[in-house]
Amino acid sequence: MALVPMRLLLDHALKNKYAVGAYNVNNMEQIQAIMAAARETRTPVIVQASRGALKYSNFIYLKKLMEAAAIDNPDIPIAMHLDHGNSLDTCKKAIELGFTSVMIDGSLKEDSKTPTTYEENLDVTLSVIEYARPLGVTVEAELGTLGGIEDGVGSGQVHLNDPDQAVKFVRKTKVDALAVAIGTSHGAYKFKAGQAQEIRLDILREIERRIPGFPIVLHGSSSIPEEAVAQINRYGGRLKDSAGIPEAQLREAARSAVCKINIDSDGRLVMTAKIREIFALKPEEFDPRKYLGPAREALLAMYIRKNREVLGSAGRAPEIIAALDAERS
Ligand code: G3H
Ligand code: 13P
Ligand code: ZN
Repeated sequence: MALVPMRLLLDHALKNKYAVGAYNVNNMEQIQAIMAAARETRTPVIVQASRGALKYSNFIYLKKLMEAAAIDNPDIPIAMHLDHGNSLDTCKKAIELGFTSVMIDGSLKEDSKTPTTYEENLDVTLSVIEYARPLGVTVEAELGTLGGIEDGVGSGQVHLNDPDQAVKFVRKTKVDALAVAIGTSHGAYKFKAGQAQEIRLDILREIERRIPGFPIVLHGSSSIPEEAVAQINRYGGRLKDSAGIPEAQLREAARSAVCKINIDSDGRLVMTAKIREIFALKPEEFDPRKYLGPAREALLAMYIRKNREVLGSAGRAPEIIAALDAERS
């Protein structure tokens, strides 16, 4: 079983100039699609669950599905990660469940809406590190806030990172990885169609220059595939026009200190598009396997493409497993 601390994956990605996909999961089909894509592309993966996902699955179901993914895929290094933990207690609970990595999002208060002060963020982050580090669990923190209020995630206010503050925060906390706000945002509505879609790679480069060799995380990195949005709307959906983070920018970021890229919305869109299509074209269908199965196939194709063409993580799993085996023998 290849459940590993996330830091191990981040270090390998950093050294080899690629990013690991951190894919959000809520159910079995998503996990199976991620793992099938990882097998097909021989890719390390970060399987992550939000607080909402854990609650939806009554904690134990998602935990067991993630463990099943690891047992079923001994050749794939997997980090089991808590996405957007909002307190020390939430992080403790995830660690007790067996997560190998946690994010403490101290950029917002526990209501996940109100921005915190720098000092409040520092305090809660330090408390999680103090608890997690002796247990070998990786800790990701966040500085600056991302947008995304339309989807009910985050404060809706965007505060881009100040490189000085990022450097100070990393030195003070000695955190394993830092999520930065450089213009990405959560959810399906990031940029209006036709608006310039630019993320601040210049801020990223400045942070990288000041703390070389330190792992950076990009949240809100879905690209909002036009075909999926069109397919949803063709079959009765009503999504507004929108655009996501261009894949070319993600590819560029992945070659830099960015070594974890979070993607959730793209999977939601692709899955919904396929299910809507089946419901519209085969209204007589009522066996969940007949629509969730094809949705899983559509997800598989999406994750394969992300691993191969966007993140550069394909083919990296054997190197990590070989290094782990050498360390153990
Ligand atoms: O960052 C947010 C993720 O997309 C998870 O969203 O809280 O709706 O599960 P969620
Ligand atoms: P997207 O909404 O862009 O997929 O971002 C997901 C994310 O950042 C999860 O933490
Ligand atoms: Zn996020």
